[in-house]
Amino acid sequence: MRFTTVLATLVAAVAAAKDKRTFAVLHHYGQGPLTTCRADPIISPGGPSSHVHTVMGASNFGFNATGETLRQSKCTTAMAKADLSAYWFPTLYFQDPATKLLEPVKMFYMNVYYFFEPTHDDIKAFPVGLKMVSGNAMLRTPPATTGDNQLDPSKGPIQPVQMTCPRSSYDPPSWPADSKGLLAGIASQHDKGAGIGFPFEDCDGYASPLRVDIHFPSCYNPKAGLENYQNNMQFPTDAGDGKSDCPEGWIHTPHIFFETYWNTHELLPRFQSTLGKSSPFVFSNGDVTGFSAHGDFIAGWDEEELQHIIDTCNAGHAGIDTCPGLKYGANDPSDSCTIECPVDEKVDGKLEKLPGNNPLAGWAFGGGDILAPSPSPSPSPSPSPSSKPQPGNGDDNTPPNTTLIAIPSPSKRPSHHGHPHPNPKPSSSASSFSAAAVPAPSPKPSPKPVEPIVHVATVVDTVTVWETTTVYEDDLPAPTGAAEKHAARHYAKHAARRYHRR
Ligand SMILES: *[C@@H]1O[C@H](CO)[C@@H](O)[C@H](O)[C@H]1NC(C)=O
Ligand SMILES: *[C@@H]1O[C@H](CO)[C@@H](O)[C@H](O)[C@H]1NC(C)=O
Repeated sequence: MRFTTVLATLVAAVAAAKDKRTFAVLHHYGQGPLTTCRADPIISPGGPSSHVHTVMGASNFGFNATGETLRQSKCTTAMAKADLSAYWFPTLYFQDPATKLLEPVKMFYMNVYYFFEPTHDDIKAFPVGLKMVSGNAMLRTPPATTGDNQLDPSKGPIQPVQMTCPRSSYDPPSWPADSKGLLAGIASQHDKGAGIGFPFEDCDGYASPLRVDIHFPSCYNPKAGLENYQNNMQFPTDAGDGKSDCPEGWIHTPHIFFETYWNTHELLPRFQSTLGKSSPFVFSNGDVTGFSAHGDFIAGWDEEELQHIIDTCNAGHAGIDTCPGLKYGANDPSDSCTIECPVDEKVDGKLEKLPGNNPLAGWAFGGGDILAPSPSPSPSPSPSPSSKPQPGNGDDNTPPNTTLIAIPSPSKRPSHHGHPHPNPKPSSSASSFSAAAVPAPSPKPSPKPVEPIVHVATVVDTVTVWETTTVYEDDLPAPTGAAEKHAARHYAKHAARRYHRR
């Protein structure tokens, strides 16, 4: 009896440490985000936040959401039913160069990658209620790094965010070649399709408009506590043998990565005149540079189910909801989960000012110096004004090598009819991509809204959304690999993200 228990414990420990990275993507379903709203239960609990967020996840999101209240949610936008977490990030707006009016850019879709990376530690599920923030909402001037992500604290300041702008041609470049970030963004040194700050070109890549990428640290310090988002997390450090570990006494959690696609390309006819000179995009906090990209997370997973996924699943792009042996299973992708925003104000349509009255600042708009967070641009994930020491982090992984790859077409090549992207198949040395067709669902009211839907306008027609995926270089499956076939079956069967055009 006793022997069995010891053995079981040993087996569990072995299963949790990783020699090789595994991952599974959390897909969302439904008719757009959970809500688009000036709420942020981490930074501004109890009342409206300073800027509008696009929110994904569980329906009990609100001013005072906590892990416990999220766990009581009626529904979630996440495909995995066991995940009642909340994920949010600043909404992207477009300033019409002709009228100067502001309007939200339609979100194309959003994925959360769950990476389980090589480590000597046991990777543990996020404890319910864990609060994390990554990126710096105050930045209007360039971080002290290049245009690449930097997730290894032993190599300098952390740079957890990036923009990805897939294009049919990278001539001219998306970010001015000599840019230092003071009047334009900075290109990656490794990938023509990536950089920091909003690009000055149109992201016309096939089925892949502008993408904002946000990495979160994966070491949790239980002494700091679940609530202490300014000090409770850091990136893991290089152990010298291809693995990265957390400090002693800390808990190694999954490495999550937000990939948010915005349908910038459909607006091209209205910003053609600015190409190569400026960007018409602005985050809801007034940042015209894009340097302030950031994301927030409150864990609301059923811990047992997430632990099972960490220990046994490598579903990759097929999705976390396809992991074998799930107790809670997957949501029906033809459903939708949306909530009413507790702030009674207009966040869409054509606006003269950003909700919350955030002034446009940065680059040609000025104001960057005033708003910049002091001498050394802090890599701190906290957007809070109180300066916090940079979490020691470390991640021995090479900076993420972001590449678009094909999700194989389930059966036949999808028709391009109605697709917002006119370039059927750009060729690019940096990335190759294609997409799987997803039949658009017939419009129907959300079956289980918690409250009346206020920000969803009348559906007049639908667009088919195409899925592209992001992986690190070494995750690229062989073209005819089982993983891709599995993904193809999954997409054919369950469809991907779908949003309705207003
Ligand atoms: C949230 O908390 C604030 C302050 O504690 C309280 O005044 C407010 O009523 C709460 N709101 C909701 C929706 O529970
Ligand atoms: C990405 O992969 C390419 C090809 O393997 C390599 O040359 C490049 O240095 C990598 N970039 C990063 C950021 O690791």
